[in-house]
Amino acid sequence: MSIFLWLLFLPAVLCQLSSGSLKKFPNALALGNNFDPIIAAYWTGLPHHRRTPFSVSPDGKSAYLAYLSTSYASVFIQQVDPATFAAVGKPVEISGAREAGGLVARNDGFAVLVNIDNPSTEHPISTIVRYKGGTKAWTRPVNGPGVHESDGLSSSPDMNGDLVYSEAAGLYAAYFVVTAYTGGASGHFGDSIQYVNDSGEIKNIAGASSTFGCSHNTGIALEEADAAPFASVCAEDHGAIWLNTKTQYMSGVKIANENTTNGVSGEPMGGMGGSYSSLALFPGTSTYIFAWQSRGAVSLTRDDWMGDGYTSCSPRWLNHNVAISMLKDKSTLQGPEAISKVGAASGDDQVTWITKSSTTDQQNVRVAALDSSNAIVTWEQLSNPHCDPVPLSCTGTFSGTFFQQVDSQGKKVGEAISAKDVLVAGDMQRIEGKGVCWPYVSMDWDLSQPKDRGTYVSSMSFACIGGSGSGTPAPTSQQSTATPSETAPPVAGPSETKTESSAASVPSPATTLVTPEATNMNTRSPATTPTSSAPYAFTTCDAKNGCPDGLRCYSFKSGYSVCIPA
Ligand SMILES: *[C@@H]1O[C@H](CO)[C@@H](O)[C@H](O)[C@H]1NC(C)=O
Ligand SMILES: *[C@@H]1O[C@H](CO)[C@@H](O)[C@H](O)[C@H]1NC(C)=O
Repeated sequence: MSIFLWLLFLPAVLCQLSSGSLKKFPNALALGNNFDPIIAAYWTGLPHHRRTPFSVSPDGKSAYLAYLSTSYASVFIQQVDPATFAAVGKPVEISGAREAGGLVARNDGFAVLVNIDNPSTEHPISTIVRYKGGTKAWTRPVNGPGVHESDGLSSSPDMNGDLVYSEAAGLYAAYFVVTAYTGGASGHFGDSIQYVNDSGEIKNIAGASSTFGCSHNTGIALEEADAAPFASVCAEDHGAIWLNTKTQYMSGVKIANENTTNGVSGEPMGGMGGSYSSLALFPGTSTYIFAWQSRGAVSLTRDDWMGDGYTSCSPRWLNHNVAISMLKDKSTLQGPEAISKVGAASGDDQVTWITKSSTTDQQNVRVAALDSSNAIVTWEQLSNPHCDPVPLSCTGTFSGTFFQQVDSQGKKVGEAISAKDVLVAGDMQRIEGKGVCWPYVSMDWDLSQPKDRGTYVSSMSFACIGGSGSGTPAPTSQQSTATPSETAPPVAGPSETKTESSAASVPSPATTLVTPEATNMNTRSPATTPTSSAPYAFTTCDAKNGCPDGLRCYSFKSGYSVCIPA
């Protein structure tokens, strides 16, 4: 090949991922505190990454990482040097915060979405806290006492949500799961979208703000736009994932049919608290990419609860594959929406599959835009998966974190690369020269059984992909073991209310589901107050809580409860 031809070929080669595209910064950030890297998944108790929100300021000079303290009752926000990932100064602590659900770095500080205990409510309240120049500028509860009182009050047992900021609109938006405690929706779980301006005032924007939307939303995606409404996606428990930018409800443009069950939407965006890096805007364009884990859809049936025009479906596989949907703009798909035809044999023909396997499971699907025309989709692969019919995670042998480049039309660019010593546990953010970077905890990742907590660590690792190569090279050490703390994790909760925490004691959801009739669709039975902040999966309820004879009530820390054969 002549030099000339070779040079023509070169840019295309450089634009694809290769094993050298992944740079690791193991344990680069000393936290100064301990962190529990595992959160037990709702219902199954399977281990998920406890989210560590991460954000880089628009000027690229500062970054912030948020993480839950091991008291499980305060959140730390640590400034990070985006060049080295080393700590800058001491962290800010927000006491009473149960989880961080989203973080926005600004040139002069940050804003974080957390759910904070409130003495007058049963569950914590979603709250945006803004720091400028190292001091607190404002605190704005976005639900709870006094917030949209005439529409009904709500609280947030879990911090399943996200926070974004639009420079063009001068607005923050928070999208988060709520449970209503007054008004017509009282006792029901849904979600809310609230806009807050630069002074910390809630802006009630017609056609954008929402006090109660998708039922049992266990997957939220939110991304900025130049004006409200911002781009939003919800996964509900009736059978669909919606691009609901224009409706803020379980309607709008149907991205996908997904098999669900009462109260469970299949963890498409990673499970409770997992809503991050699911929807990404290609910079300088109006194009978005949405990525999720899907079990496919077959056999569409009428959704009697929602009525005409709505469908439910069965899964194509019990394992999950990686799916993407490309958006022309914040409220329009590039391709067709999912069908809602009762009786249709296939309900997922519109999906762009990044993987399509019936022998491996794919989970923890994330996406970030690398530049104006390329994105990185990532997922964890499990070999020999065991999957229950209930639409939740599978167990299996972790066989690597995969990274696939795709273009802004959703076409794969090159082959996926993988690594076993890199995980993705916080928002994927662009850093000049480094490509897309994210935080994770270096540890053995065991997805074979339920686990309600991890070994505490006191440092955070970072990895980057798709950089130009001019950034700081990764340390040569490939050894990325966790930094276990001296302190053992606390013994969970009051022992008299805790069931055995062994895997065997976790009831198999497949055999324990109550029928929709038994529990009134869209209503979780009134759960008792979680008795402790300890991260165990579930307790027995104090009362029967409406469970029929022969069934016992179990309450999850999140406030959900289910009826299970006694
Ligand atoms: C935010 O909204 C409040 C109340 O409407 C208003 O007084 C304030 O000027 C707004 N702040 C900004 C930065 O626009
Ligand atoms: C999900 O699929 C299972 C298995 O086919 C089916 O029994 C169940 O009814 C489906 N869920 C919904 C909400 O249709």
